[in-house]
Amino acid sequence: MPLEARDRLIVALDVPSVKEAEAMVTRLGPSVSFYKLGYQLTFAGGLPFAAGLIAAGKQVFLDLKLHDIGNTVAKGVESVAQMGATFLTVHAYPQTMKAAVEGKHGSNLKILAVTVLTSYDAADLEAAGYKLGVSDLVARRAEQARDIGIDGLVCSPEEAANLRGIVGARLALVTPGIRPAGSAAGDQKRIMTPAKAIAAGADYLVVGRPIVEATDPKAAADAIVAEIAQAKK
Ligand code: C5P
Repeated sequence: MPLEARDRLIVALDVPSVKEAEAMVTRLGPSVSFYKLGYQLTFAGGLPFAAGLIAAGKQVFLDLKLHDIGNTVAKGVESVAQMGATFLTVHAYPQTMKAAVEGKHGSNLKILAVTVLTSYDAADLEAAGYKLGVSDLVARRAEQARDIGIDGLVCSPEEAANLRGIVGARLALVTPGIRPAGSAAGDQKRIMTPAKAIAAGADYLVVGRPIVEATDPKAAADAIVAEIAQAKK
């Protein structure tokens, strides 16, 4: 079943407190159905807050990028699945991905893999002991994610078309680095408009500052949903 445009927008709640997150969710109201929590909010009381969002009918993406021994990952993922989250990120190491797939078994949770962090360049990979360059390592991990049964990948909109060729139609591509025409890039280096990201093959768009820091966040979210609805995939 094709996704509704509104359900393809994920708003990154990159705020320091539950109080601020609650105020933002209230302002956005029915305009936004899907929220992403990262380290900052999760470790500031964000988990009970996320449970409340789920109880209120919203979808939750926990961007916690898990990575540990298999048993620990599988048990952690089981707990996340029980709380009713929709998406959870893990680092794209084969052992970690297999454990995450095992841990979510029988639930509605979808596991997204992060192939190579976008802050890493060739020199960072070499310093970390890797022999492959960024694009080769991204491609290898994408193939592994596909073969292990991961549900989707987090990637930049620029990588989406290439990754779609590797992973096929089954995996969801979730792209941050989205900037509506005319909005500030901030620290994002490789950005695309919502319409272009959808045309490049993205299934879900993660948007933070262009909505959360807008003078009228609800209007900003509505404009992005309208752009998604018009975009040609
Ligand atoms: O404010 P902005 O729209 O740039 O927020 C993008 C969100 O996506 C942030 O929560 C950021 O941590 C996340 N993200 C990213 N680039 C990645 C992975 C995650 O910007 N490669």
